[in-house]
Amino acid sequence: MATAIVNVPSNVGAVKGLDCQSFVGLRPSPNVRSFNCVRTAKKRGPGRFAIRASESPRDGPLRKLGRSDAECEADVVAGNVPEAPPVPPKAAAPAGTPVVPLLPLSRRPRRNRKSPALRAAFQETTLSPANFVYPLFIHEGEEDTPIGAMPGCYRLGWRHGLVEEVSKARDVGVNSIVLFPKVPDGVKSPTGDEAYNDNGLVPRTIRLLKDKYPDLVIYTDVALDPYSSDGHDGIVREDGVIMNDETVHQLCKQAVSQARAGADVVSPSDMMDGRVGAIRAALDAEGFHDVSIMSYTAKYASSFYGPFREALDSNPRFGDKKTYQMNPANYREALVESHEDESEGADILLVKPGLPYLDIIRLLRDNSSLPVAAYQVSGEYSMIKAGGVLKMIDEERVMMESLMCLRRAGADIILTYFALQAARCLCGEKR
Ligand code: PBG
Repeated sequence: MATAIVNVPSNVGAVKGLDCQSFVGLRPSPNVRSFNCVRTAKKRGPGRFAIRASESPRDGPLRKLGRSDAECEADVVAGNVPEAPPVPPKAAAPAGTPVVPLLPLSRRPRRNRKSPALRAAFQETTLSPANFVYPLFIHEGEEDTPIGAMPGCYRLGWRHGLVEEVSKARDVGVNSIVLFPKVPDGVKSPTGDEAYNDNGLVPRTIRLLKDKYPDLVIYTDVALDPYSSDGHDGIVREDGVIMNDETVHQLCKQAVSQARAGADVVSPSDMMDGRVGAIRAALDAEGFHDVSIMSYTAKYASSFYGPFREALDSNPRFGDKKTYQMNPANYREALVESHEDESEGADILLVKPGLPYLDIIRLLRDNSSLPVAAYQVSGEYSMIKAGGVLKMIDEERVMMESLMCLRRAGADIILTYFALQAARCLCGEKR
């Protein structure tokens, strides 16, 4: 009997139907009857499911209905063909439908879309909670503070709200997070030295989470903006220039400090030149050769980051980020960046924002063998939320479609504020 074993997170709830339209992730939808999920592992073992090819395993003796094969065949040969339902009549078209000759088409692509089972069979892209990285905002406070421009998102208390949110995410198979800190103004400085304080908010939080959830995958953001009194990702010279190599020096210290705390993947989002190679060397020199680098390879100077900057109170105090983040008009330049990052040792290439930059995701997918990440940024999230609240669009469907489209464009993983909501949807938990 054909049996497939699929690994799913052991903490995913009951095996219900994956009924979020056709966004198949972990298990077949309830109306696909020919598969049967059977939990095989002992209660607390790893989540393993055997998928059998039929509802009831035919392990027992064959059912005996009375007549032998030879007798049945003899009946047919003698002309006593058994009854079967007739072909149903052709469905009627509404009155007034024009009568036209068939178009002489050798190919009618709609044939492969004519039923849910066929559509499921030919679906080219899938979406799973395992593809999501959940960005979480943290602060020193005990309470969770709502973020005005991002409905449903909070600055989470690092010891309370954050731990609960991570637990909820793991319950539906999201086991990767990325941390964004809002640090007190009092620790910000022009050189952002708080970024590599081993007892700062981020390293402290990593240690706490790793203690509670050793298998949680923790990504960190490497950039100075949350720690910079100027709100820039790098050190600002008197004349407003963002100093590249001096900033990279700080970023290396920041990445090492995060790695020391237990980060799995450090993610430079600063867009300084040469930072990937320098961070790689710094990590290796300290013995952190197992810590990965997800480089924000093509990060554009985008207005879609507005709500995020409100969330962290990290708006640049003056000027903009156009001397380091890329011009939204540019396509080829993404290749220049990706060649650099790849040769400097990046493990994952990231494109940001997501939906308006699908062409860039595809470009990197087609020109690199490395995994590609897409960041569905704050502005994209807030637009979908706002459209949903105003009843202009169906929030859940647009959310799932946007995530699927990022995957279709070539993203292996997606950083999205929808991670928990979308994973719940994939697990059949309607909210
Ligand atoms: C800064 C950083 C930004 C985001 C992630 N890291 C903002 C910026 O570059 O100003 C934006 C994420 C979002 O908008 O969701 N290092």
